[in-house]
Amino acid sequence: MSLKDKIGAVRNDFRAALDKFPTDSIKIDELRVRFLGRKGEVAQLFSTMGSILAEERAEAGKLLNELKVEVQSLFESAVESVSKNQRKKETDSADYTLPGIDTPIGSIHPIEQTLTEVKEIFKSIGFSIAYGPEIDDEYHNFEALNIQKHHPARDMQDTFFVEDNAVLRTHTSNVQIHLMENEEPPIRYIVPGRVYRNEAISYKSFCLFHQVEGLFVDKNVSFAELKGSLDYFVRRMFGDDVKIRFRPSYFPFTEPSAEVDIWNSERNQWMEILGCGMVNPKVFETVGYDSSIWHGYAFGMGIERIAMLKYKIQDIRHFYRNDIRFLEQF
Ligand code: PHE
Repeated sequence: MSLKDKIGAVRNDFRAALDKFPTDSIKIDELRVRFLGRKGEVAQLFSTMGSILAEERAEAGKLLNELKVEVQSLFESAVESVSKNQRKKETDSADYTLPGIDTPIGSIHPIEQTLTEVKEIFKSIGFSIAYGPEIDDEYHNFEALNIQKHHPARDMQDTFFVEDNAVLRTHTSNVQIHLMENEEPPIRYIVPGRVYRNEAISYKSFCLFHQVEGLFVDKNVSFAELKGSLDYFVRRMFGDDVKIRFRPSYFPFTEPSAEVDIWNSERNQWMEILGCGMVNPKVFETVGYDSSIWHGYAFGMGIERIAMLKYKIQDIRHFYRNDIRFLEQF
């Protein structure tokens, strides 16, 4: 067979292979080896050059090179069209009706949401926000607030001691003292924060909870103003239909004192949300305010209780379980 015929035969073989060009990469490689490999069909033809008459060699070399270039370029374009097809198939087979991949995002804890609302309401009527220590000495948490050694609030059962003379504050009222020690009247602050009590846990009491303290000291502050401000707060928080009552009470650091209850329609009973009163002149004396000039009111509200009433949550312990099924409702 002449070289020309052999070239024609290889060309035909290759054309036939192209017609059934494989899509599988292993088979594609086998084809590449068969035609273009070091011992492939094209290379084998080149190896016969030695036995060709010298005067025919130039012509033969030219034909062989043409074959090689042709096979190479047709092979590469076949490979390219296979991979193009595959990419197209991948897009064609995307199912656009599948649900998207869910990226869960967190929500703001209902206690934080309630705190934010309380702060906004009091800011709108002229209160500034202050913070104070969660671990304090007995002087600021008790003594300066006129809570005597024998007072039940001082009882070991109610107070978590960190060490001698260092307690987890049992209320945010300790910050009343810090504020008045550091600033001259008139002052008007609310103080949000965590408080701790070593008491029996129930649906409405937990060892840890949040309070917002309020303290307003000026020359003419009356109980009527205290009542008016708290009434305004409760209405903005719960709406005008809220059922509220002021009930006389006792705190060593206010005189007179009261508590505010909100009607809990889920349980058909009153729920206490805050204690309040006119700042006891003894407290003013302790911090060095002249009680013949300055008057004030104070209050301390329980944020968990307010959130329970607002969102109709039956048990305070839900706030501290971190159960996502509970939290994601807010
Ligand atoms: N500190 C009191 C409590 O925790 C609440 C309170 C604050 C009462 C300020 C009167 C004035 O129960």
